[in-house]
Amino acid sequence: MEKVKFTQMKDGDREDYEFLTAHETEYAAKTGARLLTALVELDASLSGYQITRLGHSLQSATRAWRDGADEDWVVAALLHDIGDIYAPYNHDEYAAAILRPFLREQCTWVVEKHGDFQRVYYAHHLGGDRNTREKFRDHPYYDDCAEFCERWDQASFDPDYDDLPLEFFAPMVERVFARKAYDPEAVREGARVALTDAAVAAERAAQKQGEA
Ligand SMILES: [Fe+2]
Ligand SMILES: [Fe+2]
Repeated sequence: MEKVKFTQMKDGDREDYEFLTAHETEYAAKTGARLLTALVELDASLSGYQITRLGHSLQSATRAWRDGADEDWVVAALLHDIGDIYAPYNHDEYAAAILRPFLREQCTWVVEKHGDFQRVYYAHHLGGDRNTREKFRDHPYYDDCAEFCERWDQASFDPDYDDLPLEFFAPMVERVFARKAYDPEAVREGARVALTDAAVAAERAAQKQGEA
């Protein structure tokens, strides 16, 4: 069987749908690889900054890595602007939808809301409300999102920063998207992990010196 027999879904039988399920599983397994390709495509988007969107994504992830952040945070930092390609007006929600089945809830929430939190840095220059993030003030992840934006997002537009390359982060992306979708062990509802870990950061810095 290479294709289903039906032309309308209501006419499909068990054989058709089992065949499709197998196909979809195989396709879904390559999500991580497709996202890495999409990240490279980000390179062409949104000119005007001193660095490209890919450069900004790599720089955010590199800062997260150097802060001792865990894999969920690093992948969140790398992919937080992936929605820029197809959803320029709600890129944060778009990225969160991609990440939600695989990442810790805390990280997905932060990616989903980062657009509102970023406004604190610029909206007033355009006559807008810079405090839209305040509607989330009582949320348990409010401080995490504020820290994400301060340390990794708004800071990562520097053309002179030495970003780690995409190849460095690729295995992390592959591992995260190889998780079972919506696995409670991955989503870890309600769990809060600090963005930074000084001991891990020192270890990684020492590793880097050793390599140099
Ligand atoms: Fe963004
Ligand atoms: Fe960003």
